[in-house]
Amino acid sequence: MARRLRATLFSLFLFLLVATEPALATSGGTIVFTTLGRSRYAFDIFALPLAPQRSSSSSPAAAAELRLTDGASVNYNGNFAPSSASLLFVSERNGSLNIYTSPVPSAASSGPGARREALELELEEAMAPAPLLPWDPIALKDRPSLTPDGAHLVYVSTADPAGSPRRSWAAVHATHLPSGVTRRLTPRGVADFSPAVSPSGEWTAAASPGARGWAGEVEDLATDIYVFKTSDGSRRALAIHDGGWPTWADDATLYFHRRDSDGWYGVYRAEISVADGDDAGVSVAASVERITPPGFHAFTPAASPGAPGLVAVATRRPGSDYRHIEVIDVSGDANAYFQVTKPVAPRAHHYNPFLSPDGARVGYHRCRGSGNGDAPLLLENIKSPAPDAFSLFRFDGSYPSFSHDGKRIAFVGLPGLFVVNSDGSGGRRRIFSGNAFPTAWDWKRKGVIYTSIGPDFASESTEVDVVAVSLGDDDDDDDPQHLHQEAHRERHEQRWVVFRSGRSGHKNLYIMDAEHGEAGGIRRLTEGPWSDTMCNWSPDGEWIAFASDRHNPGAGSFAIYMVHPNGTGLRRVVHSADAGRTNHPWFSPDSKTLVFTTDYAAVSAEPISNPHHYQPYGEIFTVNIDGSGIRRLTHNSFEDGTPSWTPYYLKPDDVGETLPASGTCEFEDCHWLNIDAQPDGLMCGRHR
Ligand SMILES: *[C@@H]1O[C@H](CO)[C@@H](O)[C@H](O)[C@H]1NC(C)=O
Ligand SMILES: *[C@@H]1O[C@H](CO)[C@@H](O)[C@H](O)[C@H]1NC(C)=O
Repeated sequence: MARRLRATLFSLFLFLLVATEPALATSGGTIVFTTLGRSRYAFDIFALPLAPQRSSSSSPAAAAELRLTDGASVNYNGNFAPSSASLLFVSERNGSLNIYTSPVPSAASSGPGARREALELELEEAMAPAPLLPWDPIALKDRPSLTPDGAHLVYVSTADPAGSPRRSWAAVHATHLPSGVTRRLTPRGVADFSPAVSPSGEWTAAASPGARGWAGEVEDLATDIYVFKTSDGSRRALAIHDGGWPTWADDATLYFHRRDSDGWYGVYRAEISVADGDDAGVSVAASVERITPPGFHAFTPAASPGAPGLVAVATRRPGSDYRHIEVIDVSGDANAYFQVTKPVAPRAHHYNPFLSPDGARVGYHRCRGSGNGDAPLLLENIKSPAPDAFSLFRFDGSYPSFSHDGKRIAFVGLPGLFVVNSDGSGGRRRIFSGNAFPTAWDWKRKGVIYTSIGPDFASESTEVDVVAVSLGDDDDDDDPQHLHQEAHRERHEQRWVVFRSGRSGHKNLYIMDAEHGEAGGIRRLTEGPWSDTMCNWSPDGEWIAFASDRHNPGAGSFAIYMVHPNGTGLRRVVHSADAGRTNHPWFSPDSKTLVFTTDYAAVSAEPISNPHHYQPYGEIFTVNIDGSGIRRLTHNSFEDGTPSWTPYYLKPDDVGETLPASGTCEFEDCHWLNIDAQPDGLMCGRHR
């Protein structure tokens, strides 16, 4: 199927292709990228009655579970409004993560009854969510809560750049809803996550790394809890050392989570003294007490003055691969635990509980599951910060790249190299079944795709090949028999491929003849005891961009460099602080800008509150090739990566796929919460 450019090139990994002629159109085009797993799961927000948990150990019936969101897009991180009659939640339904509200159906109207169908219709209309915030600026808006008077919406926003690399942009904002006036409550230069408004509305607590910033940690985000005035962010004081995800039981009691030195996430209670005098601010917590014992993970607590003595938490217990919501009754001498979601949906992950102010319900989000499974979108439109310049799409697959007529996308699946029609009309087929890496289409030979094949994360001595796969000259021909055909061969043009090889013992870049492989000529482009990788040739032929750790070999930090194909002009284009990770550069159609993935903006939410993302700091950015004008394109707490940029302009609408709905909703939880996989069955990831 695939023609090997040479039988055994050692440890080739990345590569990319080229042409000696200037490329096609230079208009803005389209940027596509991958978000780890995101296309394959979709959350909705649900609620169960709190009462059964409180009064007895009887399990709530599945029928009592109420779906609070409408099954469109991904809906998560819910919270109730002070009246308990409406829901606040985060949704990506319009291409950026914004905050919406919708009414909460009453339990009665959702119960069984003769007029159920009519009621459901009415409910659906009534449930239509309304955005609470304007669309601009494009930013992650997360963790909504309202002040008791309903006037101020308090939330996290990533609208303001942090000002330096590897600092989170997450900051608490408050918007006065009647006037739309927004105020930043977090001081400039500092990040805040997971805000919670106190029952009186006067104070807001948030988790903050403070001045120490972010050191790349994911499993246990290093934060302390600060308390400040909700009105203007003043009186900011450190309330609790080492903690995250605060929640108020009353104006003097906070619950929070912390990963303790024994390795378990646990939930804690702190009594704090909050004074609003002339000089007095918030004093440090008077007492801190661990509520949940070691032996299982408990995190993301939720309390409410309407449910005194109760705390809802998410847990991972030995013997279960799933996160479940439990309610802890802390009012007695010994804490009592009540399972909330396990009896209803034992084999699903449930996230980030919240309690209604009237004490009636516990809410959470989970995958909407098989009954409501949607086919994943092939191309999901994401709001572009420069819509006139380029459209922006999430693609359901890794290393997506467009053919030059824009009609097809090559991508890497698990495992193999695939192509699919970019208009959603199907044509999905696997054209190579091995483990493949980045994809690049030949600029000249129609239907020829280059990739490299071999094991993941291979060492220098592992054999990896660069291969060229030809789709055949008939664009509509799906017959794999034709894969060997080489279409439109233009013999007069010299074509080269740049790739990475570990043949010298180090991963450096080489250039070889694209048609004849090494036999047609090969030369070394970079040389040194470090790794150069993920290379991309500019459409005008002048530059090769690549990622390298040459500034600190072997330390795991990568930056983006450029070099002329003749080996001159080497320079570093973008670097995300000393330990930073910046990778996967790809040139714009006019060769003047690079799109890439980076940890430049650190994490945007506490990683434990999300499904598993290896690198939740991965966001897509662009930069001018002279290193100026760095711009953030994606704002989320997911892992975004492997962008590519095509001159083909795709209009900013979602493109569905002609696949049956998967409905499986299978995705990984954070591997570091795994319990049973640990050798002694007890300790979790930290002590491996
Ligand atoms: C999406 O946002 C646009 C404004 O950018 C707005 O006009 C449109 O109504 C929104 N769509 C939905 C479904 O909310
Ligand atoms: C190397 O290539 C660059 C870009 O094409 C060109 O400007 C430069 O003159 C070349 N240098 C040498 C020594 O050939």
